[in-house]
Amino acid sequence: MHENSKEIDAVGSPDFPAPWIKPSAKTFSSHAQHVACLAKPQPVASINGITLFLPPNVYHPGVGLSSSFLVEAVSNKLLGASVLDLGCGSGYVGISLYRPGMELTLADISDAALASAAENLHRMKITAEVVSSDLFSGLQGRLFDTIFFNPPLFDKAIDHEAEIALCDPDGELLGRFLADVPDYLNPDGKVYFMASNLMNRRVLLHGLKEYQYEIVSSSHCAQSDVSRWVVCASPIRCKKTTGIAHHVNIYELSDEEM
Ligand SMILES: C[S@@+](CC[C@H](N)C(=O)[O-])C[C@H]1O[C@@H](n2cnc3c(N)ncnc32)[C@H](O)[C@@H]1O
Repeated sequence: MHENSKEIDAVGSPDFPAPWIKPSAKTFSSHAQHVACLAKPQPVASINGITLFLPPNVYHPGVGLSSSFLVEAVSNKLLGASVLDLGCGSGYVGISLYRPGMELTLADISDAALASAAENLHRMKITAEVVSSDLFSGLQGRLFDTIFFNPPLFDKAIDHEAEIALCDPDGELLGRFLADVPDYLNPDGKVYFMASNLMNRRVLLHGLKEYQYEIVSSSHCAQSDVSRWVVCASPIRCKKTTGIAHHVNIYELSDEEM
């Protein structure tokens, strides 16, 4: 966990997403600094022993806190043979969680991100497939044991190229992601994704109604008022099979949230 983060929930806390701190002026100021930083030519960075080539506007996992947070939360989990790192950016998450024998696929909508991921896989001598894809559009018919997604978190308009990695206006991407995931998971497959108080809360909670899920890690950064939760979710209904998983409806939306 990062130094400027503090734990706010126990693992699997039923409080999620009750301590939902609304983005404040300090959130926007921190976001603006993040955009300015990503837009600049970025040096090659070494993060946790992984040397990354990072062109401008590709998400920098050493600047944003989410990537390492997701990696730490998932590193001791059973991931299965076929793994997808969706919205791979530089490839940091997939590369960090790669294990010999894994069939790893990295996908992103951004050409700069795909070039960065391909170069970084080459540097790390990891063989993986790199796919240009708007969410799952380039992955039709594929099934995975585990899908990771560290999505653009901020429910805010995209005003700069760097914000393609950071912003999801009205939760459009999040809603599509949660609706489509069941088509791309093997039975018993799981998705691990980053959730945050920056997101469109209504879209998140509606989408999660179709899943059995738990929070495997939580943090709050007091400097930016950003909360992060790593969510592990399995679809209640696996669309490619007739299997129906045990349904646990953990949270209900209040009228205010609808
Ligand atoms: C927060 S960054 C995470 C990058 C990387 N996974 C990491 O953690 O370092 C979000 C990534 O999602 C990608 N992205 C945004 N919209 C997408 C879409 N419609 N389909 C696929 N990837 C998308 C961005 O290009 C960006 O690389």
